[in-house]
Amino acid sequence: MKNNVLFQSHLPTRNQFPVESVLFYDQILDSKPFFKKWKKGFQYQMPLKAGESLKTLESLQKVLKKLSRMSLPQTTQLTFIAVGGGSVGDFVGFLSSIFLRGRIFVQIPSTWLAAIDSAHGGKNALNFDHQKNQLGTVYTAHRVYIVHQLLTAQPQVRLNEAMGEVIKMGVINSPHLFEQVESNEDDFKEKNLISILPQLIAAKMKVVQTDLYETKGLRRVLNLGHTMGHVFESHYKMAHGEAVLFGTLFAARFSFHLGLLKENDFIRISNLIFSFTSKNSMQNLLQKMKRAQIQKLLLKDKKVTAENVMDFIFIKKIGFVIRQKVSVQKILDEVERQATEF
Ligand SMILES: NC(=O)c1ccc[n+]([C@@H]2O[C@H](COP(=O)([O-])OP(=O)(O)OC[C@H]3O[C@@H](n4cnc5c(N)ncnc54)[C@H](O)[C@@H]3O)[C@@H](O)[C@H]2O)c1
Ligand SMILES: [Zn+2]
Repeated sequence: MKNNVLFQSHLPTRNQFPVESVLFYDQILDSKPFFKKWKKGFQYQMPLKAGESLKTLESLQKVLKKLSRMSLPQTTQLTFIAVGGGSVGDFVGFLSSIFLRGRIFVQIPSTWLAAIDSAHGGKNALNFDHQKNQLGTVYTAHRVYIVHQLLTAQPQVRLNEAMGEVIKMGVINSPHLFEQVESNEDDFKEKNLISILPQLIAAKMKVVQTDLYETKGLRRVLNLGHTMGHVFESHYKMAHGEAVLFGTLFAARFSFHLGLLKENDFIRISNLIFSFTSKNSMQNLLQKMKRAQIQKLLLKDKKVTAENVMDFIFIKKIGFVIRQKVSVQKILDEVERQATEF
């Protein structure tokens, strides 16, 4: 897999794309003057409303109809550019993979989550029947531009939310990355995140390359913190990255309790997470949910087998995680333990 990621201070110039390019972008970006000016260079363009409702067959059909009315030149050079967060990237990635059996796909992420995670690794998805990511293909972007100007145009609050995926990646396979965040934990800024983005992306790609099509289950380690993370995200409607922070803390406490993770690393992981979230909130989150609600959400997880067993990612040490089968009941018992432990 060749390296297709380019880091730039500004948006790429128009002549870096073929004439036959369609610009899809999150309509929120129309509020940024630099973006408005840049998009004028594109003859074919389509604003999209970001969010989960974009990732549906209904919106796919609407967009296909609009494309059909545009009478696009259907050459092999036809290029779909997605500027936006993970929802725009997932939607346009899917579209690019099926349109004329696949056309060139370029991603320009505008959120931290997309820059760190969703723009890399080739997965795209639509939701179906109120279930997330039920339809999709693996279709790697031909090029990803990481644009400083676009990412720093986000509200400041997004930075803390992004830290879930950042700390997760360090714990999975990058002790050095973890240390870099640790060394700035009291004052972690945009510029710190920008400077570690290349390492973060490389860390994800190292896992992806072991199992691009997820036939061996090896990519599953990227789900560290996501089992309980998804429960918190759905129940409390919290930002994905923030939910992953709590989910990773849950996994660390579970791993420590089982004797898999040594105390020193456990304390480092907990402290780093606490510097991006409040210390008491985890217990509150667990205490305020009914067991039946948690069970229902856990059972919705795509990874649960018919026997109510799922893969759970445990931490052995900072930089090394393992995948183990655990019953849903055992996770619920651990929720009970963590909700009452002081
Ligand atoms: N394909 C993958 O591997 C993968 C991995 C992780 C997540 N995802 C998917 O990614 C999606 C979540 O990603 P997301 O959080 O980027 O979501 P998103 O695209 O919904 O963006 C979140 C919000 O940020 C706004 N926004 C985007 N760019 C902005 C900017 N520069 N300034 C201000 N606001 C901006 C959007 O309008 C939206 O309101 C989910 O659908 C998830 O399933 C995919
Ligand atoms: Zn995630």
